[in-house]
Amino acid sequence: MNRLLIYSLSVCLVGFVSCRKEGCTDELARNYSSEANYDNGSCNYIKGCIDSAAVNYDPEAALSDESCLSFENWRNWILVDIITGPDSLLGFAHLGNDSFSVRSVYANQELVLVNGQYEPGTMIVKHSAVQGSAVDDEYIGMLKLEKGEAPTSNDWEWFLLNRKGYILRDNSGVQQRGPELLNNYCTNCHSIAANDFVFTN
Ligand code: HEC
Repeated sequence: MNRLLIYSLSVCLVGFVSCRKEGCTDELARNYSSEANYDNGSCNYIKGCIDSAAVNYDPEAALSDESCLSFENWRNWILVDIITGPDSLLGFAHLGNDSFSVRSVYANQELVLVNGQYEPGTMIVKHSAVQGSAVDDEYIGMLKLEKGEAPTSNDWEWFLLNRKGYILRDNSGVQQRGPELLNNYCTNCHSIAANDFVFTN
């Protein structure tokens, strides 16, 4: 034993209580303290999505419950439909007023209605492009939340995305998402769709 260790041990024995640092000593817990040497039962094991790039990232969560949802992989999802040309319902939305417009709709799972509703966790992306034009492509998404989470939008949350499926931010850094996105612009139009706010099926 080296001298330093003997010294600190004897200090510890003399002032036993002062060496006891209470806290959470489990590295897997969210509030793990590297300084604590006595576990006082305060460890926090909140479960949730711990991937900060996911749409349902939970900053409070410490342990993954494998519930992460993300639009990142949308290009590999099920291609539900490809719509071309103008759509009288669209007006200027979704680049729909252009006869060269091509709108591809992708879903992360089969779109199956159960009692008129899509399953919570259903994610849909629409990629709109006007071929041969300088107009930027548009990427938007919708996610079905748990029942009762957002009654005004029939539990859909809306998203503005970039081509990689990341959520766009406005100039103040705020993510462009929410059941009431753009003052209910998405909700108001989609509420007339035949199946649970979804036009394509
Ligand atoms: C003026 C009406 C209108 C508005 C506003 C609108 N949409 Fe749509 N949306 C449509 C129509 C119609 C379709 C069907 C496909 C098509 O013709 O392009 C559609 C399709 C979609 C789809 C593919 C799933 C589906 O319903 O067919 C997504 C995702 C989507 N819109 C998201 C959004 C988001 C997010 C917003 C708000 C930023 C929004 N929409 C605003 C009319 C609208």
